[in-house]
Amino acid sequence: MLVIKKISEVREILKKTRIKNKTIGFVPTMGALHNGHLHLMKESVKNNDYTVISIFVNPIQFSEGEDLDKSPRDLEKGKKLAESVGVDLIFNPDPEEILGNNLLTFVDIKKLQNNLCGLSRPGHFKGVCTIVTKLFNIVRPDRAYFGKKDIQQLYIIK
Ligand code: PAF
Repeated sequence: MLVIKKISEVREILKKTRIKNKTIGFVPTMGALHNGHLHLMKESVKNNDYTVISIFVNPIQFSEGEDLDKSPRDLEKGKKLAESVGVDLIFNPDPEEILGNNLLTFVDIKKLQNNLCGLSRPGHFKGVCTIVTKLFNIVRPDRAYFGKKDIQQLYIIK
């Protein structure tokens, strides 16, 4: 299993994978992998030739007052779990690699995000959609897997 931080390297590896006509499954995560993630990773491994997960604690989906630093990170545990179910590649970028130092472009799905939990977390889904779009553009998966626990997120991403 590979653990990669650079976008260009992930693109290079996945280009070779695509050339071999292999399908790519993708599970985006913020780390702290649990049984729900395990299930998604297993599904991806079962249904695709190559499985990528991302581990990236996305700062732009946390608003002021929400403690980003409290977001649990245990990369070593995550690596072991991912490897145990057959994940091929972990993309674990540093924030600058994904966000640069002057993020100007956002994905903002107004109609769907200003309801339910979006009401109490302004900017949250804008941050999620922006990062998921970026990750999709990097990984370009055939299939992506999201948990059903956050049902609003799932609908917005769909
Ligand atoms: O559900 C999560 O863990 C995050 O919202 C996601 C989809 C990885 C985007 O940062």
